[in-house]
Amino acid sequence: MILNVTPPKVFAPLWKSKARYLGAHGGRGSGKSWDRGAHLLVRHLTEPGLSSICLRDVQKSLDQSVFKLIVETAHRLGAIEAIKPVESDRVIRTPGGGIITFAGMNEFNAENIKSLEGFDIAWWEEAQTAGQRALDLLRPTLRKPGSQLWFTWNPRLRSDPVDQMMRQDPRFADSRTVVEANWRDNPFRGDELEEERLLDLAGDEARYRHIWEGDYEAESDMQFIGGGMVREAMERQPNPTTVDELVLGVDVARFGDDRTVIKARRGRDGTTMPAIKLLRADTMQVAARVMAEIDRLNPDGVFIDEGGVGGGVVDRCRQMGYNVIGVNFGGKADRVIDGVPKCANKRAQMWATMREWLKSGGCIEDNRELEMDLTGPLYSFDNNNAIVLEKKSDMKKRGVASPDEGDALALTFAYPVVARSIGRAEDQRKQEEWHPVWGSQNG
Ligand SMILES: Nc1ncnc2c1ncn2[C@@H]1O[C@H](COP(=O)(O)OP(=O)(O)O)[C@@H](O)[C@H]1O
Ligand SMILES: [Mg+2]
Repeated sequence: MILNVTPPKVFAPLWKSKARYLGAHGGRGSGKSWDRGAHLLVRHLTEPGLSSICLRDVQKSLDQSVFKLIVETAHRLGAIEAIKPVESDRVIRTPGGGIITFAGMNEFNAENIKSLEGFDIAWWEEAQTAGQRALDLLRPTLRKPGSQLWFTWNPRLRSDPVDQMMRQDPRFADSRTVVEANWRDNPFRGDELEEERLLDLAGDEARYRHIWEGDYEAESDMQFIGGGMVREAMERQPNPTTVDELVLGVDVARFGDDRTVIKARRGRDGTTMPAIKLLRADTMQVAARVMAEIDRLNPDGVFIDEGGVGGGVVDRCRQMGYNVIGVNFGGKADRVIDGVPKCANKRAQMWATMREWLKSGGCIEDNRELEMDLTGPLYSFDNNNAIVLEKKSDMKKRGVASPDEGDALALTFAYPVVARSIGRAEDQRKQEEWHPVWGSQNG
């Protein structure tokens, strides 16, 4: 079979590369998807028995997916006889027992992801929405010698995990080949696409630059905590003292795929310990861990999200004699704090307090997931002009990760806590019932 393929010049490095990670990023209509589709097909036609999987965050109908693209490419290259698409099985059979199959990353968890071990190529299309957890699961799973991970994406934020990994993180520098492609690199772009582009060119400039030139999205002014503020807080050096209060926040998982997160903060220092993340832990396990951390750290205050199953964690800790405080995210915003605007509920108020803290000297770990969590939620105003923070469920619908670590850190701001006396002996603590000391209403 003679294959007549002439990839646009911009993609040539990807066709030649033997790197483990291949990436193409850029704006709409650059030919990214078509080029990767053609490359994948050619690999399958020339390497009998190859197995590949095409991934999306969520695989909707095959009609909208790379499935159709590859079948059309096979027609275009005159190679349709060599493959056998079986739509009902979500698979395209290729020469020598090879397969190309299709899945959504949401179908995988820590256990069943092992089924991907035998694949040679995993191609994640529209990977700008890829979550850190999903990437961390995927990378070590594809372990066959010579296996590759391909990513195509239109950059959204600098903090998007795929962008971090494929363009920024120096650890991957030697194992990735990445090209940037935009509309002008696509010699095949049609008139319709050009018309669309010119329409957008006449509109909002930042939007045009994101959609067509592959620039990061302009930071939305409806983002509750901006990326700049978070990065500054990450660069600050913590300078904790023993008279600073040590507070624990516990965000309890509500849905199957969320994690319970325990976070500590000592005054302005949010880096005292890495967040503890518990996956699929029940209320008894979460309570046991919280109590173990209280024993270990001897904090001055512990705030636990008591909505939903969190109530069980609060009850268990109290039953065991630990004086923890339950916080209801949906409850009233019950504090008046200088510099913090009117908020519609307790969760918004804790986030607003945390935002003030980030702005005015708080230090946080330099950690992508935390950055995504803090910058993830959008906000709006209700009829009373009070701030409404985006709900976790709405964030999920947008394909943004649930900000569990952000919520845990926010919980440390539920109420003011003052450090207890310094150097108190451990056994003394056990005998006394302790209370966080409420500060003034001005925090
Ligand atoms: N190799 C090619 N041969 C013919 N047409 C192409 C080719 N590559 C891209 N195109 C045209 O350009 C359009 C945009 O390409 P696409 O891969 O969808 O871009 P992107 O994924 O970057 O948005 C396609 O719909 C197709 O019409
Ligand atoms: Mg595309």
